[in-house]
Parts: sequence; structure tokens; C-alpha cells
Amino acid sequence: MAKQKSFYLDNAATTPVDPRVLQAMAPYFNEAFGNASSLHGKGNEAMVAVEASRAKIASFLGCSSENVYFTSGATESDNWAILGLTRAILRDNSGFKPHIIISAVEHEAVIEPVRRLVKDGLAESTYLKVDKNGLVSPEDLKKSIKANTVLVSVMLANNEIGSIQPLTKLAQVIAEANSSRKRRILFHTDATQAPAYVECNVKKLGVDLMSLSAHKIYGPKGVGALYVGSGIKLEPLVYGGGQQQGARSGTYNVAEIVGFGKAVEIVSDKKERSEDIKRIKELRDYLVKQVLVKVPRSSLNGSLKDRLPNNASFIFPGVEGESVVLMLSRHGICASTGSACSSGSLEPSHVLLAIGVPIEHAHGSLRLTLGRFTKKSDIEALLKHLPSTIEKLRQMSPLKN
Ligand SMILES: Cc1ncc(COP(=O)(O)O)c(C=O)c1O
Repeated sequence: MAKQKSFYLDNAATTPVDPRVLQAMAPYFNEAFGNASSLHGKGNEAMVAVEASRAKIASFLGCSSENVYFTSGATESDNWAILGLTRAILRDNSGFKPHIIISAVEHEAVIEPVRRLVKDGLAESTYLKVDKNGLVSPEDLKKSIKANTVLVSVMLANNEIGSIQPLTKLAQVIAEANSSRKRRILFHTDATQAPAYVECNVKKLGVDLMSLSAHKIYGPKGVGALYVGSGIKLEPLVYGGGQQQGARSGTYNVAEIVGFGKAVEIVSDKKERSEDIKRIKELRDYLVKQVLVKVPRSSLNGSLKDRLPNNASFIFPGVEGESVVLMLSRHGICASTGSACSSGSLEPSHVLLAIGVPIEHAHGSLRLTLGRFTKKSDIEALLKHLPSTIEKLRQMSPLKN
């Protein structure tokens, strides 16, 4: 059977591995296969590679290598930042109930550990509302801070609508609050979607903890990192052999760590980065313009300002986003909805509801995300098939449209 040509427009879900990353990883599957914790030459060779990768990531974040811990991805990093900090505080302060502030548009990897802590009676939480463009207001953050607030977690860039949060302004609010407190409020950001497009220097952003993932930046799946500012105590999530100063046990995933480092090295290249951003943004702007013209009653979620250059998220009233994705898939087009399908029920996206999309429209969302390997022909394929797909589905739909 001939393989169907595919047009990949789902780079926020995952990116293809860059061939340069694959090439960098290859030796660590065979000739340099050592366990980085072994004392012999093979172990040393692997450890040198792990530390070189850590140094590349530290340089990208503007911190020291000792502040960078490898994890299995951003889900683990987010969980570790939230649970690790809360558990460390609870261990040292019996009877104290920590308060955590997060935005209403966080990824589930942030929402769920916070929900779990609250459910178990171990913490309190506040969700910061966002405006129609998905942005948190520094004023709201200021009003939400309480005497027992220990952590604020606001993502750098949103995975569904691409909005880029004003982190430096939020950091200023936290710094002001901290100037008159005994226990510092820490600032965590989930930067998973950001590194290819947005400055991730932890000092400039003013964050204490930052989660990253390799597979959103043309690296392999299953590896990520958590930046932990100096002097911050986190209880480990993973106990075992004591790797990474006992903070995160588990045999080093050497090949993937090397791939992550290479992926970061590539996004750190100023020339390639700015060329990529310019080209991707032009393609995205063309896509948005054309979709809004070609599909009647379509609208863009959020604004084009303060948004990742690769993200376009639409609402098409009168259709189910999942049906659009499946029909586009028949033409080889890979897209996604803004909504998550959880435990068999189709829940509309909490992000779209938070920006004020009516619940009946939130089901008709489509997210298109471009990347380093997106070509004009991918966009043209979508523009060829999307209008007729929406029209057909609207005709079939029992929804009022
Ligand atoms: C904003 C955000 N945070 C966390 C994650 C989870 O990352 P990982 O797949 O590395 O666990 C994702 C992945 O979709 C994401 O987009």
C-alpha cells in the first residue's frame, strides 16, 4: 500500500526530531552505551556527554549547570516543582497550609498536582482568570497573594492558543510581595511550548523554577528538565539510586539527554532562530488570513499579539472539532482540537472557556501549529480541504448553526 502523504500541522503536540539531533544521539545507543554513574571509562564517557548537555541547557537558561535537573519530561518537571516544594514546606512546618496560585489556562501537568494537594487537604489554591487573549493580569495576581502563599505557577506560553504571559511583570509583583515576607513566594513557569520562540533566560524572566521538554523543540520524547534556583529545597518525587545529587534518582537517559542538549543548542543559534521565527510567522499569518476568508463564520481564538508565532487556533461554530480533525486526517492533514477528551467524555477545553468562548462554540475548535519543517504546501493542503470539510460537517450537524 502506498504511504499517504502527510501534512503535519500539530507541532504543539510534538515536533519531529531534527536530523542533527538524531545524529548527535546515535553513538549513545551503541559504542558509547555506558551507564553515566559507572566509574570506568564507558561510564565516564557517558557522564561527560550528560554534563555537556546540562551545560548547553544552563547556558540557554542563563544559569549554572547545578541548577538544571533532567527529568522524563515537562509533566514530571511540573509535578516535581509543585509537589516537591509543597512537601518540603509541609515537612518543615507542621500545621501550615500552603497556598498555591496558578492561572486558569495551565496545562493539566500543573492543574492536576495542585488539584490533588487540595483534594488531600494539604494545600489551598487560587486560579487566576485570564482576559479574552488568555493573559493573566499582574493586578489580579497582586490581589490573590495571601499570607500563606508559597508558589505562583504561570506558564510562559499556552499550548492551545499560544498566548505569551507577561512573566516579568508577574515576577515584579511577586518580588514586591517578597520584600516584606519571611518566606519567599516562589515563581514557577511551565515553558514547554516556548524555547523555540520566546526568551527563556530565567533571570530576565524572574522565575525560580522552570519546566522544559525536549520533544516540543525537535528533540526526543521522554526527556525534559527542571530549572531549580539556588537554595530552593524540593522534596524528590523519585527516590532510588541517588543520581543528580539525590534530587532525582534513575539511570541517566544518556542518548535522550544528549539529544535534548543538541535540540537546545540549535534553538540557541541566533541566526537560525530568527530566520525560523520570521518564516514560520509569515506562514502562520497567511494561514490565519486565508482560513478567516475561506471559512464562513470562523474566528481566531485570542489575538495575533503576545502569541507564539507558530500557533493558530480557530472556532468554527456548528461543528465538532474532533470530527474536523478526523476528516482532515483522511487527506493526510495532522491537526488537533483545543479540547481534551478525558475519560470517555468530551469536555470542552478549559482554556477556551477561560477566554470566554461560549461552551457550545468551544466544541468547534481547531488548533494548527507550525514548526521548523512546515512548508507552504502543508498550508495549501489545509486550505484546500478545510472549507469543504467544515461545510460538509455543518450540513450534517444536528447543532444549530
Ligand atoms: C504547556 C505544556 N506543559 C506540559 C506538557 C507535558 O509535556 P511532556 O509531554 O514533556 O510531559 C505539555 C505537552 O503537551 C505542554 O504543552
